[in-house]
Amino acid sequence: MKKFDQFLQKLAFNIRRDKEIDLNRRGFIGSSLGLMGVMFFSTIPLVSQAVKGEQEGDAKKVKIANLNELNIGDSKPFSYLDEDEPALLIRVSEQEFRAYNIKCTHLQCPVYFDKPSNKLVCPCHKGYFSVNDGSVLAGPPQRPLPSILLEKQKDGIYAVGMKGRTV
Ligand code: FES
Repeated sequence: MKKFDQFLQKLAFNIRRDKEIDLNRRGFIGSSLGLMGVMFFSTIPLVSQAVKGEQEGDAKKVKIANLNELNIGDSKPFSYLDEDEPALLIRVSEQEFRAYNIKCTHLQCPVYFDKPSNKLVCPCHKGYFSVNDGSVLAGPPQRPLPSILLEKQKDGIYAVGMKGRTV
């Protein structure tokens, strides 16, 4: 009788252990699928916002100036991507134009184009940027001015996006 009890105990132990392992596997798979579902559905708003932003970016083609409106070394202020984002178009040669968001990357003072030195200047703390690529030449700013992509067409110069990011 004692041996039979020991046998039953051993059997019960094995049964419980098997079920425990089975439940753990099922539990793990169930939890993983649940977590994947939550992650999938939580990204839907972000994905739709990104797609929407991309579509809006397609519509952000803005005419800035007529082709011969600026002489070499002249600049023209405009706003891009919205009214709160001041920008500057600069004619650097017969064929070349540059445009930048002119919020200084230090503390956001407005930057202007200094024709005699051929540099973009921030008067607040004497920050200097290259007119060719917006890179920092001197002063406290650590990052270049955001560059605006341009497209030259028969009827003028258009801003068509921000360099390095989708608009
Ligand atoms: S805000 Fe432009 S250099 Fe400080």
